Formats: sequence, structure tokens, C-alpha cells
Amino acid sequence: MSMEGAAWSSLWSTMRSDKGDGGISKDTLRRTIQFAKPYSRKLLVFVLLSVVSAALAVATPVLAGQVVDAIVAKSAVDVVVKLAGLIALVALLDAGLSLVIRWISANLGEGVILDLRTAVFDHVQRMPIAFFTRTRTGALVSRLNNDVIGAQQAFSGTLSGIVSNSVQLVLTLIVMLNTSWLVTVLALVLLPIFLMPARRFGRRLAGLRREAANLNADMSTQMTERFSAPGATLVKLFGRPAEESREFAARASRVRDIGVRTAIMQFVFFTALMLVSSLALALVYGLGGALAIGGSLNAGDVVVLALLLTRLYAPLTALANARVDIMSALVSFDRVFEILDLKPLIVEKSTAVSVPPGPLAVEFSDVRFAYPSADKVSLASLEDVAVLDTRGGEEVLHGISFKAEPGQTIALVGSSGAGKSTIAQLLSRLYDVDSGSVRIGGVDVRDLSFDGLRAGVGMVTQDGHLFHESIRSNLRLAKPTATDEEIWDVLQRARLEDFAKALPDGLDTVVGERGYRLSGGERQRLTIARLLLVQPAVVILDEATAALDSTNEAAVQAALGEALEGRTALVVAHRLSTIRTADVILVVEGGNIVERGTHEDLIAASGRYAELHDTQFAQAVAAVTEAGTSEADQS
Ligand SMILES: Nc1ncnc2c1ncn2[C@@H]1O[C@H](COP(=O)(O)OP(=O)(O)OP(=O)(O)O)[C@@H](O)[C@H]1O
Ligand SMILES: [Mg+2]
Repeated sequence: MSMEGAAWSSLWSTMRSDKGDGGISKDTLRRTIQFAKPYSRKLLVFVLLSVVSAALAVATPVLAGQVVDAIVAKSAVDVVVKLAGLIALVALLDAGLSLVIRWISANLGEGVILDLRTAVFDHVQRMPIAFFTRTRTGALVSRLNNDVIGAQQAFSGTLSGIVSNSVQLVLTLIVMLNTSWLVTVLALVLLPIFLMPARRFGRRLAGLRREAANLNADMSTQMTERFSAPGATLVKLFGRPAEESREFAARASRVRDIGVRTAIMQFVFFTALMLVSSLALALVYGLGGALAIGGSLNAGDVVVLALLLTRLYAPLTALANARVDIMSALVSFDRVFEILDLKPLIVEKSTAVSVPPGPLAVEFSDVRFAYPSADKVSLASLEDVAVLDTRGGEEVLHGISFKAEPGQTIALVGSSGAGKSTIAQLLSRLYDVDSGSVRIGGVDVRDLSFDGLRAGVGMVTQDGHLFHESIRSNLRLAKPTATDEEIWDVLQRARLEDFAKALPDGLDTVVGERGYRLSGGERQRLTIARLLLVQPAVVILDEATAALDSTNEAAVQAALGEALEGRTALVVAHRLSTIRTADVILVVEGGNIVERGTHEDLIAASGRYAELHDTQFAQAVAAVTEAGTSEADQS
């Protein structure tokens, strides 16, 4: 790209990206510079080459002026040929140099994208579960895409634009003023007439662009939510497809309108700039020509001035908008930094130890817990709310104490919302307790390393999530080194062997989004198989509340038997068959343990457990024979 081309395109991007400056701190600027540091050598080379390239761009008009002067003076032919040869050489050099400059700036820009993307991805992965329960996935993904690209433009667009425009402007002005200060000054008089409306224009255009970006984000949120298997099911069952389509169409047509207006405004802007510089050109020819006839200027000088003028207007306009451009780039950086600044609530201690070997005891001592408030874990802009909730969450667990001896199975039962899943999540350290402690093999879970925790504690969650991948890779998530033999072994133990063998693609069968192509029972057994692959010392099962048909029920029961064999287990149980196998049953109500004992003890005590037994578990047994596969759990 020629210098002129670069100037024009950076001018255009300047006009597009006017976002206004909303409270950018010095800190952001400092950190942005910090981010550019690894690229300082490339940046230096870039600036130096830009200077050379700008000098070359000015050289051609000067040489052209000398050609004209030689013609007027009727010099020897070889003078003109030599000058023409020089012009050709400059063109060749310029082309080569442009390529190198473009290569460097592309490298800079893409390098920054890479750095920011990996930093954000890495950081988001470390965020606590609480963060993910609050943020909108769409907003987060857009942060990774749009804002990172916005930040990249700061380097490849803004920075290169400003550097090359300034250099070009200064050199061009020096040569023009040297040639004829009078003509130069008069030619510039027209500029403000253009610049003032141009800035307003830019702001209007930016407003439109922002609106389109928001609309696009809304559309993609609507699509990601509605086009997922559970979302689509919901729309089919309860939604109003016609209304959804209307809403979508309204947004899409607004985007179309904005597109048309932007195109027109863009055209008007370019045409206006062309017009103003053409008028200035007329002035140069008129005034310069008159001066040349009067003898105070050479014919060649008029040509030099005319040629240079076209290289003056674009950089001038671009630089006039540079401040806004920088601001908008900083806004993007700021939005990325905002994510990087979120503190992960759950961190690994530097002194973390691994889980001791062998069957382990599990102990909760006076555990109190409230789900963290929004301002601790999240960002308003990601939650789609204006102000974050600062209220501390209400305490959900009020002093839970129990102990499971190595190899024992503890069953948690209780009403919906009692706190059973919460207890399970504290044991696998998805959250940290507010007071009290959770110990595995005598070690506080907060003192365990993340790797140790993953190897030592296995959990099957209530929703039994699977990725939209093959059965093999879903299982290998837990153990990337697992061989096919190992996989078939755990499938057999989870009573899924026949099922998997009957599949057309076997282990390569893709389970569908969130495992929606499997029945509820199959999905559960697959998550149990995943757990069997790890062979953790401690097992946590958060049973789905859904009832299963009797075949599935028996299969899941058998799979569970395998999973619990010889391990310490915490089971959030909804089915009588699971509950009866437990060594101890804890009845949880309103965040407290209200009863504990064996099935027989508790039935004999005819308290809350006996009540639950009669109203829920016994009924569930009855329902088993009727219910088919059912997917959703109730929490
Ligand atoms: N991520 C969360 N943020 C805030 N509050 C939560 C969160 N998850 C659960 N709660 C609240 O904590 C309480 C206990 O929920 P929990 O999921 O532990 O119940 P549960 O006993 O597992 O119920 P179920 O049998 O229906 O699965 C409920 O009042 C619930 O509303
Ligand atoms: Mg639950």
C-alpha cells in the first residue's frame, strides 16, 4: 500500500471508530504501553521505515517538478531520462518498503491479538464457578472477539496511521513551504471548512456503528440461547416462534438500515474530501500559475505543489481525529483489562499438597456458607445489568458438621433447595466455605493442589453435562491418556457397553449438544463412566431428580455400585435404592442437618426422613415403572 493509500484508510478507520472518551484512566494507558513493550524493537523498525517511506513519497513529486523544469529549460534529453529513471527507482523502492512495513504492522497487530486472547482465555478459565453462573456467555465471548480486535486496531491501524501520517505531513509541509509558502498557506485555508463537519460526521457514524454492534450482540445472544438443544426445546414447548422471528427480523432490518446509511455517509465523506482537495488544487494551479507567469515561481514548482497537495489533506484530517481514535482503542483495552483484573476467588496455595493415597475420610466441621455476591465475582457489563448486586448472599448452610469414615457412603436427602448440591460443591471446592472447614483425608481442601483435588475427588453433577463431542473425547476429558481398552472397560462397568456397541460410529459417536442425543439414563451412566476412568478416592454423586424407567434404573444402580465400590462417597440421593445402600443418611433442611442415622433408625424415629420416605421416595419407586426417559432435573 502506498503512503497515500495508508493515509486514506487510516483516515477512514478514524472516522469509523469514534467512540468518545469515557473515563480512560492513566493506568489503562500505562498498562497498554506495558502490553506493547515486547514489541518495542519491531515498533522502532516500523517507525524508521515509515520515515523512509514518507521521504520516498515526497521524492516523486519533487523529481516530477525537475522534469518539468528541464522541459521548460529545453535541457538535454538524457537529463529527463535520468530523472524518469529515478522516479521508476523510487517507485520500486516504495513498493518493496510498503510490503515490509505492512508485514511488520500485521505482525504487531496479530501478535497483540494473540497475547490478549490467550491472556483472557487463560484468566477466564481460572474464574470460579460463581462467575460463570452469573455472566452471559454471549457477552463474554464477544469480549474475547470484538474488544480484543478493537485493541488490536490500536496497533495496526491507529498507531501506524498516526506515525506514517505525521511523518508524511511534516515532510510534505516542509517541501511545500520551501517551494512556495504563499501558495501552501492559501491552499490550507480551505481545510477547516472540511474538518469541522467531518468530525461531527465521524461521531454520528460512530454512534450508528455502536448501535449496530449492540444489535448484532443481541442477535447472537438470541441465537445462542434459542438454538441450543434445551433452548429450542423450550421454545417448541412454550415459546412463540412467530414473535421470536419478528423480534429477530426487527433487529436485523435495523442493522440493514444502519448499513445503508453508513454506506451513504461514507460516500458523502469521501466525496467531500475529494471536492475540498480538488478546490485547493484549483487554487494551487490558479495562484501558482499566475506566480509562475509573473516569474516568481518555476513551472516545475507548480507541479510539485499540485502533486504534494493531494498527499496533505488525508493525513491532516486523520491526525485531527487521532485523539478520538486513540481513545476508542483504549476503551477496548480497558474492557479487556477489566476482565483480566477480576480476581479468581478460589486460588491454589503455593504450599498446596496433593491428596494423600488410599481410602480417605471426609469431614465437614461447622461449615457456614453463602453464595458470593455479584460484585465479588462478576462484571456488570457481562451480566447485562447496570449495577452489580452488592448484597452479600444469604447464608445457605448454617453450621454443617459430619464425618464419613474411609470407604463409607453418606447419603444426603432433603427438600428441594435444602442445600444438598451446595454441600457437594463445597467438597469438590467449586466454592470455598465462609467459616468452618472441609477436610479430605484430614487435609483442608483449601490446602490441596488443584491437580490433586481433580485426581482425588470425582463428581457427577446434577445435570450430567457432556460436550458436543464424541463419546471417546467426552470420557477422555477426565483422563486424556485413556486407551480404548480402558474406555470399553469403564463403559462395561457403567452398563453402557451394549449401548455403545450398537451405535453406528461406536466411540466416535457425537453425543449432541450437552449430550442431548442420549436419554437421561444413558447420559447419567456416561458421566459415571467418566468418573470410573479417574478412580478417585472420594466420589460425589449429585443424582438427577428425574425418575428413570426400570431398565435404566437398574443399569444406573449397577453403575453406581461400581462407582462407589471401595470409595468414600457423598451421594445426594433422590432414589430409595441409592439411599438404602448408604452407611449414614443425613437429612438436610434449610441449610441444617436435622436428622442422621441409617434407614432403619430414621424410619423408626418417624421424623422428617420417615415423612420424606412416604411422600417422595416411595412414590419415586412407583413412578419408575411409568416414566420414560426424562431429561431435565428440577434445580
Ligand atoms: N449459584 C447460586 N447462587 C446463589 N444461590 C444459589 C446458587 N445455587 C443455589 N442457590 C441457593 O442455595 C440454596 C440451596 O441450593 P441447592 O442447590 O444446594 O439445593 P438442593 O438441596 O441441591 O436442591 P435440589 O434437590 O432441588 O437439587 C437454594 O436456596 C438455592 O436457591
Ligand atoms: Mg441439587
